[in-house]
Amino acid sequence: MSLAVAADVGVEAEAARRRTFAIISHPDAGKTTLTEKFLLYAGAVAEAGAVKARAGRRRATSDWMALEQQRGISITSTVLQFTYRGHVVNLLDTPGHRDFSEDTYRVLAAADAAIMVLDVAKGVEAQTLKLFEVCRARSLPVLTFLNKYDRPGRDPLGLLDEIEARIGLRPTPVTWPVGIPGNFRGVIDRRDGSFVRYMRTAHGASSAPEERVDAERAAAEEGDAWHQAREATALLDEVGAGLDVASFLAGSSSPLFVGSALTNFGVRHVLDAVVDLAPPATARLDDSDLPRPLDAPFAGFVFKIQANMDPAHRDHVAFVRVCSGRFTRGMILVHGPSGRPFSTKYAASVFGAERDTIDVAYPGDVVGLVNASGLRIGDTLYGAEPVAFPPIATFAPELFASARPRDTGRHKQFTKGITQLEREGVVQVLHDPDGDPVPVLAAVGAMQFEVFSHRLAHEFGAEVDLAPAPYKVARRTDRRTTEHLREVRGTRVLARADGTLLALFDSPYQLQRLEQEHPDWRLDPVVSAGDPA
Ligand code: G4P
Repeated sequence: MSLAVAADVGVEAEAARRRTFAIISHPDAGKTTLTEKFLLYAGAVAEAGAVKARAGRRRATSDWMALEQQRGISITSTVLQFTYRGHVVNLLDTPGHRDFSEDTYRVLAAADAAIMVLDVAKGVEAQTLKLFEVCRARSLPVLTFLNKYDRPGRDPLGLLDEIEARIGLRPTPVTWPVGIPGNFRGVIDRRDGSFVRYMRTAHGASSAPEERVDAERAAAEEGDAWHQAREATALLDEVGAGLDVASFLAGSSSPLFVGSALTNFGVRHVLDAVVDLAPPATARLDDSDLPRPLDAPFAGFVFKIQANMDPAHRDHVAFVRVCSGRFTRGMILVHGPSGRPFSTKYAASVFGAERDTIDVAYPGDVVGLVNASGLRIGDTLYGAEPVAFPPIATFAPELFASARPRDTGRHKQFTKGITQLEREGVVQVLHDPDGDPVPVLAAVGAMQFEVFSHRLAHEFGAEVDLAPAPYKVARRTDRRTTEHLREVRGTRVLARADGTLLALFDSPYQLQRLEQEHPDWRLDPVVSAGDPA
């Protein structure tokens, strides 16, 4: 065995130090604020300012890029890496707001855990639910942070019921609030029954001083607020809602923390939980369902492709999640699907305004490969013997538009561009199996169409006219059902590049009616996650 493929003992130790996770939340629940506070507690920034992302600016850039501009810190729009208590934490960005797209979901394919941030006044909201579905499909362990307890909100016991009922995840509170929303004093740490009292700092710019107080003193000093909190935790004890690490790791229970990212209350508890409870990078299953040992030679897969990140260069960066082995810049990898060598001379770790080259990376880390126009989502890169990881799911599209070249003389460029952008996963491209040559684009976020049009015009020289199609919901179907659907108004069946037939409906009620009237038709929910088409 050559040196290059010998087991690398340092890799396992490095993987054990890695925590790679994403934050899932609905816009405005506090993802950006919590991210910034993690940086504060990890010592990556000296002082945090209240994140005042003004609406206009936020529209112009991704959440983290706005944060980067405001704070003058260097973070990437895809992964933020910092150390905390001797661990290397990789926080993956799940683009939200206007940037919501299939990338938002795909990022979760590269994560080992997630933090679900809920606004205590709002509970489980639509986007959280969608993202959680992807976590569920991957059995990803999820920590929950009930945020904004510093201001009026809902009864937290009611929220526990809502989490369990709406998403089927059993919340197991590790901390519980003392004081009502709006007059938040601190939390009971259910692990030892003590009271953690927080003090506010000006604008939450520095960590909130905290004091650990025993139950007796807490009762004397906090009175009713303490007794009410104790009653609630006694109830939680009775129903057995205690921390259960095994079911957390299996993705069926969720350790829950209460706090306020704005005032820093409870932030340390969550960050500690990332290190203490969330799993390290572990052996990933390959496409034959065999765990790929961490210390096997380098292997990783592409989970995101971003083009034109550097406006000065027309480039593609492929983000690769390292699954096994040690990555060293300059190594020649093999691109799984083509068998071609791939040079990593320009591997980069930071993709904000500036790029830093990355010299070494371990399982759990993300490496950005520049000049990656030949790579596509889900591709494996490996260093020695061939390996492939399972494909990354495609997601149920919710927006549709038919696409025509503005200038019919540029049809060739148009077709070439569509093929390339489809390969990169910018949009899904659907075709009429019966011959209508006008492709229909499908996406989960409107931004995907904008990126598509922009790139088609600027990189391929083909302006496109997009006409929104009225469809609202898609189902997977088969040939037999397609024949029946031909007779039904307001529906259309189109084929995805992988051959999957998608039936599109312009109203969910119509679909519901058809499902009731024709239980024998095949109208399966489109893969929402985890289940490759
Ligand atoms: P997001 O990334 O999930 O979209 O949310 P973000 O952190 O940007 O937070 C959304 C708003 O909520 C921000 O207000 C932020 O300051 C506020 N916020 C976040 N965490 C807390 C918390 O624990 N308590 C309170 N009270 N507010 C919190 P903003 O953008 O400045 O808008 P505005 O509220 O000033 O209008």
